[in-house]
Amino acid sequence: MAPEPPLWEQWEAERARLPGGERLQKVLAAVGWGSRRACEELIAAGRVTVNGEVAVLGRRVDPEHDLVEVDGAPIGVRPDLVHYLLNKPTGVVTTARDTHGRPTVLDLVPVEPRVFPVGRLDADTEGLLLLTNDGELANRIAHPRHGVDKEYLAEVEGGRVAAGALRRLREGVELDDGVTAPAEVSQPEPGVLRITIHEGRNRQVRRMCEAVGHPVRRLVRTRIGPLTDRRLAPGAWRPLTVEEWSALVRAVAGDPRRYDRST
Ligand code: URA
Repeated sequence: MAPEPPLWEQWEAERARLPGGERLQKVLAAVGWGSRRACEELIAAGRVTVNGEVAVLGRRVDPEHDLVEVDGAPIGVRPDLVHYLLNKPTGVVTTARDTHGRPTVLDLVPVEPRVFPVGRLDADTEGLLLLTNDGELANRIAHPRHGVDKEYLAEVEGGRVAAGALRRLREGVELDDGVTAPAEVSQPEPGVLRITIHEGRNRQVRRMCEAVGHPVRRLVRTRIGPLTDRRLAPGAWRPLTVEEWSALVRAVAGDPRRYDRST
């Protein structure tokens, strides 16, 4: 009779026989797609793909490396990544530490895991700011090439802004660091401008308005690409929903399949 293989060999063989990864419905449920039962139905309906192939029930995935998509949009399968939407109040700075001892945006969100702001808002600007520990997504959002637009509501001095000034804001304004790219500008009320820009230059909206003779009195960022939230109170934050995260990934990637979350 052949001798028994050493115990460690038996153990290795056992491990090789065991399926790896997590059950797909468990992963989907963990990132907010509903109960495991509901997630099984999503899979059975053929709405879930893994690395581009329609998944079948019982499929296991490695959340770190497999690209899981529902209806063509990637899901947030990296449990270590967090994305917060903060409504920054005035007086709070967008740096990690302020030399003047002012509160920072990091004082308003959980300490762990450590996150960083995507782009910046001036201390005197209010509104939406994204904080994340997802460096790849942050780079893409911040890069003007990916065209994630940002919308601001600006209350300006001098009352109604004339048509000529609105046109200049739309077509490009000469600033000391060059002409601004075309912007979307409307005036929902006299002296209140809704401005959408794709660039992220320092104090850009304030400088644009000043350049056309209407310094900004109050500035609020109301949208970052697909992200908006009128109910979030100043100083409050919340995690992005999976749908928001997916929309953001689509906005920066054009084709979500090009967004490689395994690197
Ligand atoms: N433009 C500004 O002028 N300030 C901000 O904080 C953001 C955009």
